[in-house]
Amino acid sequence: MSLPASDLTKQPDLRTTMDLGPVLPETAEVRDGRLFVGGVDLTELARREGTALYVFDEAHLRHRMQAYVEAFRSQYPASDIIYASKAFLNKAVVRIVEEEGLCLDVSGGGELACALSVDYPAARVFVHGNNKTPRELEEAISAGAGRIVVDSFDELARVSRIAGEHGVVQDIYLRITPGVEADTHEYIKTGCEDSKFGFTMKGDLALTAVARALETPNVRLAGLHCHIGSQIFKLDPFAEAANVMVAFLARIRDEVGATLEELDLGGGLGIAYLADDEPASVQEFADMLCGAVKAACEAHAFPLPRLLVEPGRSLVANAGMTLYTVGTIKELPGIRTFVAVDGGMSDNIRTALYHADYEPTLANKADQPRTKIVTLCGKHCESGDAVVLDMPLQETEVDDIVCVFGTGAYNQTMASNYNGQPRPGVAFVRDGEARMVTRRETYEDLYARDL
Ligand SMILES: Cc1ncc(COP(=O)(O)O)c(C=O)c1O
Repeated sequence: MSLPASDLTKQPDLRTTMDLGPVLPETAEVRDGRLFVGGVDLTELARREGTALYVFDEAHLRHRMQAYVEAFRSQYPASDIIYASKAFLNKAVVRIVEEEGLCLDVSGGGELACALSVDYPAARVFVHGNNKTPRELEEAISAGAGRIVVDSFDELARVSRIAGEHGVVQDIYLRITPGVEADTHEYIKTGCEDSKFGFTMKGDLALTAVARALETPNVRLAGLHCHIGSQIFKLDPFAEAANVMVAFLARIRDEVGATLEELDLGGGLGIAYLADDEPASVQEFADMLCGAVKAACEAHAFPLPRLLVEPGRSLVANAGMTLYTVGTIKELPGIRTFVAVDGGMSDNIRTALYHADYEPTLANKADQPRTKIVTLCGKHCESGDAVVLDMPLQETEVDDIVCVFGTGAYNQTMASNYNGQPRPGVAFVRDGEARMVTRRETYEDLYARDL
């Protein structure tokens, strides 16, 4: 794994921090040259709490959740927003999810345990995963999880058995791959036919699964689920998926004689990682999806189902950022400039994994133009270890505080301890105050499991 060659012709765009528009958390501002979020001086926060540090703008987070609920409920009253906790999870965010009236998607026993530990109502939990273990299913069913999204025939039998042992009838969805190609990175496409997720419609496998589920004891087939991928900018594939799924609901009614009442269309709305990115707004997404479901239902004379969506990234990514301290600066003439920070692929794997884009700034020089193209590399023993590739940054010195925007999703939850790196703490900032909601890992934590 190595870095792509640096583009030496790339010119800095000289924008200052507040020109970065859509990547900024809502309360970002610059005071006396320093970046503040939630009224908190990020330079001071970094120096006080240590780096690397994940920081979340709590107002931004809550407003995004409220925007989703409002955009859907105002035009589709029988709708619910499910937060996909794989994007970012700790107890604090689960509490906020509950306070803002969202449901919760978990993809494993550990995520469920987090939710239950803060008394999040199990009935509002949706359990995902293509290979939930018997133990995870047992935990979900005994906790009273609202819906289990069944992904295979093996799992259908397993859920039936475990529910039977508990003397309950478990509400389930079936995950369907609608055969829709989303315009996004290969690694995060999930709706196409050749996918490990769900039942394909090819060869009527999905229809067979529906018929099987309907006659399986101890489960109630409440609805269908699909998820076509992540970081999707064009809205058409969502409408296409909605059409395919409603047409399938109608076919189930016509051919199997069952009218399923719930339709979960997954997550996937893209967000701005770069200042010039123009993702669709939550309102546009809701308009498109609700419109498509209503139109398809009308075309098939199918009663409007309860509609659910499962956003992760688009709820949390731009609320979050990562702070680092600059440790070394290495100018390789005619090759590139490396600015090394005290984190890297251990707290943000997305760049090493698929060369993800991010906008960085120096929190302590936030009013200065970003005049130099640099690569922010990490401290790990991999050549491909980088956080930001070839992006403009202010004139940088050792001990400056770097803020990388848009790291709120799929950073903290994908973090590792590579090279014995303790995972960063998480701070929520709001109304001039910072509260640590997850403490930084200690060396003792790292080896606490060793026998
Ligand atoms: C089943 C399911 N639902 C929802 C999501 C959330 O997607 P996003 O973060 O793109 O909104 C994912 C992400 O992979 C997923 O697999």
